[in-house]
Amino acid sequence: MTFSSPEEKGFGQGDAQLARWAEALYRPEDDVLREIRERSVHEGLPPIAVGRFDGLHLEVLTRGMRARLAVEIGTLGGYSGVCILRGLESGGVLHTFELMQRNADVAIESFRRAGFLDRVRVHVGPALERLRAIEAQGPFDLVFIDADKVGYPAYLEWAADNLRVGGVVLGDNAFGWGAVASGDDYRGEDPAAIKALRAFNEKLARSGRFRSTMIPTEEGLAMGVKVR
Ligand code: DHB
Ligand code: MG
Repeated sequence: MTFSSPEEKGFGQGDAQLARWAEALYRPEDDVLREIRERSVHEGLPPIAVGRFDGLHLEVLTRGMRARLAVEIGTLGGYSGVCILRGLESGGVLHTFELMQRNADVAIESFRRAGFLDRVRVHVGPALERLRAIEAQGPFDLVFIDADKVGYPAYLEWAADNLRVGGVVLGDNAFGWGAVASGDDYRGEDPAAIKALRAFNEKLARSGRFRSTMIPTEEGLAMGVKVR
């Protein structure tokens, strides 16, 4: 098993030389993140954390928007959460939501090792139920969605209602492994998941509540700024 994004998750033009060059120059993964990726897999979590460059995108985008209050739906082992925390303004807080206690335990260790235990709140259970508990602390600057794909439309609805105007929603896997664009051919993916990702993209692009784009990572990182 490899743990690196260019091998697991495509970079740019799919050119291996270009990917090696970008990795050597921009160094998207340091020892802290590499340890989190490897420990997560060794603890039995599925190897579906964001790729190295996806993680760096998360940090840099978060930093660029000067976010202070962020929400993540889908914690897994804490890799993407650490990236977001690195980008937050000093004193900023991340609320991260995870269905499974086993994953949350791994993530808490990740946040501890990365030095963020005092700035992260890990909420365990079904996100749509648990999100209600933080609504009074909003509106939020950033919502990153990377959980069960069937839930994406509802998570986006929550983001539309709980981001400030000017706040940003990001959605991983918005390409649905390519199947969002392939009509009745679901390419072996779960049709319910692909239909939900289509609805997510359509709502993000056309609802009028966001000005949105698609960052063409291998998996598709959809991004919208709340306009109303
Ligand atoms: C899967 C989920 C993800 O969020 C991801 O980035 C890659 C794969 C999955 O469920 O297989
Ligand atoms: Mg993902």
